[in-house]
Amino acid sequence: MTHPVSSPPPPVALCDYEHLAEQRLSPNARAYLEGAAADEITLTENRAAFDRLRLSSAVLRDMSEASTRTHLLGLELDHPILLAPVAYHKLAHPDGELATVHGAGAARAAMVVSTQASVALEDIARAAKSPLWFQLYIQPDRGFTAELVARAKAAGYSALVVTVDAPASLRNREQRAGFRLPHGVEAVNLKGMASPNVAAGAIGESPLFSGFLAGIATWADIEWLRGICDLPIILKGVLSPTDAHKAVAEGVRGLVVSNHGGRVLDTLPATIEALPRIADTVEGQVPILLDGGIRRGTDILKALALGASAVMVGRPYMHALAVAGAAGVAHAIHLLRAELEVAMAITGRAQLEEIDDTVLWRP
Ligand code: FNR
Ligand code: LAC
Repeated sequence: MTHPVSSPPPPVALCDYEHLAEQRLSPNARAYLEGAAADEITLTENRAAFDRLRLSSAVLRDMSEASTRTHLLGLELDHPILLAPVAYHKLAHPDGELATVHGAGAARAAMVVSTQASVALEDIARAAKSPLWFQLYIQPDRGFTAELVARAKAAGYSALVVTVDAPASLRNREQRAGFRLPHGVEAVNLKGMASPNVAAGAIGESPLFSGFLAGIATWADIEWLRGICDLPIILKGVLSPTDAHKAVAEGVRGLVVSNHGGRVLDTLPATIEALPRIADTVEGQVPILLDGGIRRGTDILKALALGASAVMVGRPYMHALAVAGAAGVAHAIHLLRAELEVAMAITGRAQLEEIDDTVLWRP
């Protein structure tokens, strides 16, 4: 195989792509991509919480029939690694989401396309060789939202990932850098919709509560969405068992345990720490995905051990996209998959269903 990058040494882990991407991305793009809310404690904790968990090995197991295949909401997947919805891929590569979707296809990874994609959702769908889900931000204009959902369905997206954790956020790293979308990078699927800024209000007025939040989604909108579209709905951004319970009762077909990569509210818990109680509440009624801090195959094993059916990665594939385009994205997913297979082999789990909390070391 030819390596997507010839010198310096070829990337052998996602952190290598992260370092290489530092030179490829402008300071403006980096502030947006790497940044998180406030002091970025949740961002750090997403990783630290995985690193605190130790694994338990199991020797001499028969791995001759081993596989990472899985079923997820009607999809047959070769492996449980999905591309999380990330806005504006053109910040990382001139071809934007078109390069990403080629990489996802080569790695046989399902991709979740952001409402704030920088390429038309139909064009991404035409280039797809692997399953696509559409990430939906419910817009204050519900009529526009309904049209967006209809477009996604017509283009062949097979589920709606409705992100519910981010009605507002303050990302200081981004603010300090004065982040602005460069010319030619925009949310093309949202043409005409306003993008409000929490920090833009006049001093003395309520920054949020004087109208900013008026059009935000509520539980009633989930029922409304189910009425206008028959695609399965997955809620992204759930951390509390109470919300998970309500979501299942409302007919939601899947959950993503996520803190939005630490980008929304600082000091929310690490996702891997929030997962077990959600899994206990959901009791297998719907599949649970997890994202936030997945950087190693061992992280995937830990997430599956604690109740996830699959994981999503965000920033890592953006780094690989910046470094080596579609080939980088495919290679990054391939690296994670190889690490997952090593982790399964050494912990003696030949199938994803065999990964339970006994793979975790209990002192
Ligand atoms: C995101 N995320 C995100 N989520 C979403 O539902 N819609 C979106 O448009 C975006 N946009 C976005 C942009 C950038 C630059 C980042 C880093 C993240 C959140 C994303 O789906 C996911 O939850 C996190 O990225 C997961 O954490 P890691 O893998 O980045 O640690
Ligand atoms: C973000 C929004 C687009 O995290 O979800 O930047």
